[in-house]
Amino acid sequence: MAMGYADYGGGPRMAAEHAGHERDLSTLTVAADRRPDLMVRLVARKERFEVAGRGSVQGYTLNHVSPGPEIRAMQGDLVEVTLVNESVSDGMTLHWHGVDVPAAEDGVAGVTQDAVMAGKTFVYRFVVRDAGTYWYHSHQQSHEQVKDGLFGPLVVTPKKTLPGEDVIAAVHTYNKIRTVNGGYGERRTDVPPGSVVRVRLINTDNGPMASWVDGAPYKVVAVDGTEVNQPPQVSGKSVLVTAGGRVDLQVTVPADGTAVRVGLGGGPTTLVVGPHGGAAPTGTEPRARVDLLSYGKPAPLGFDPSQADRRFEYKIGRRIGLFNGKPGLWWTINGHQYPDVPMFMVAQGDVVRMTVRNTSGQVHPMHLHGHHIYVLSRNGTAATGSPWRVDSLNVEDGETYEIAFLADNPGIWMDHCHNLPHAAQGLVTHLMYE
Ligand code: C2O
Ligand code: CU
Repeated sequence: MAMGYADYGGGPRMAAEHAGHERDLSTLTVAADRRPDLMVRLVARKERFEVAGRGSVQGYTLNHVSPGPEIRAMQGDLVEVTLVNESVSDGMTLHWHGVDVPAAEDGVAGVTQDAVMAGKTFVYRFVVRDAGTYWYHSHQQSHEQVKDGLFGPLVVTPKKTLPGEDVIAAVHTYNKIRTVNGGYGERRTDVPPGSVVRVRLINTDNGPMASWVDGAPYKVVAVDGTEVNQPPQVSGKSVLVTAGGRVDLQVTVPADGTAVRVGLGGGPTTLVVGPHGGAAPTGTEPRARVDLLSYGKPAPLGFDPSQADRRFEYKIGRRIGLFNGKPGLWWTINGHQYPDVPMFMVAQGDVVRMTVRNTSGQVHPMHLHGHHIYVLSRNGTAATGSPWRVDSLNVEDGETYEIAFLADNPGIWMDHCHNLPHAAQGLVTHLMYE
């Protein structure tokens, strides 16, 4: 496969022989003749577009907007997305961040497919098995294409309808302008007084973002698409949304006609939710933070992490020197740099444990495709709260996480830093089924 078609400068070794073959006939498999429940057509273009409240920027759009259109499916739906690349000259793909799709639908240029070049079309078909908040983005030259607009929200609603109002807050920085749902400054969503609102925070940026609510207490009801078990109410605390990660908050808007304000990292861009014109308090980031390691109540994981079939070390470091002939600061995994990092080999059904240790001097939001991992401990402190299930884990410098997951989705899966320039600087490896 051609270098230019691959995200991060070249697919992993063995990718060509393995990707897409011998897929498990599991719940994710779709009969070829099944009619889709939801059909979406996304046309990608290079063009200028409006950032509400802040003029226009040059970048990329999907159906003339960025963020791209919200895809909202119901659990169990077969979703068919037709990607038409009209004018993205480097080619592009769509990756369904956080959705456990079969490998062939995962949309990673150079690993599961070649990039879709300008003038070409590609059809994705996958079943959305798990309800939750997700997003989609291009996975070709990701560090440029995502930043410049090729992404959008994806929500899977449960079969039984959720009570109350449902509000998306997709946060993205265009040209140093932090926006929510494509707008800068105070953005408002009108809901009646007393409404119970689920705010679906999606951090599409490269760094972590603290979020909180002023004007009413709230609960963290889901993390990376998974419901928290028995979340307690919090006030005067923020919650961290990992780069690439999602957090769903639930808040009850006051009955007295006032609104609540959702803080998004502390800048001028906030989301006000409440009755039309209702005043919302202005706040600053609370000092205290919700610790997901001990938030909520324990519940079964569905597998026993103490009976691991494989154990891996995942040490993130850094190195100064040459990479692809270029001098600079580069990230390493177990002392190696992509593509020379050995892949993590697993077999279907394995319980996998991994120790992730970051001694690189910076924070890395680590994202594993196609799977969800459970956090067992951080810096030796065991998790005591609700199972903390993530696809994007914020690993600070100096931290060590013990994580576990069930290898239940055969294929080849990228595992990389979601600070996307870091991925371009070598912080990429793969999980590979034997
Ligand atoms: Cu959201 Cu490999 O990416
Ligand atoms: Cu990183």
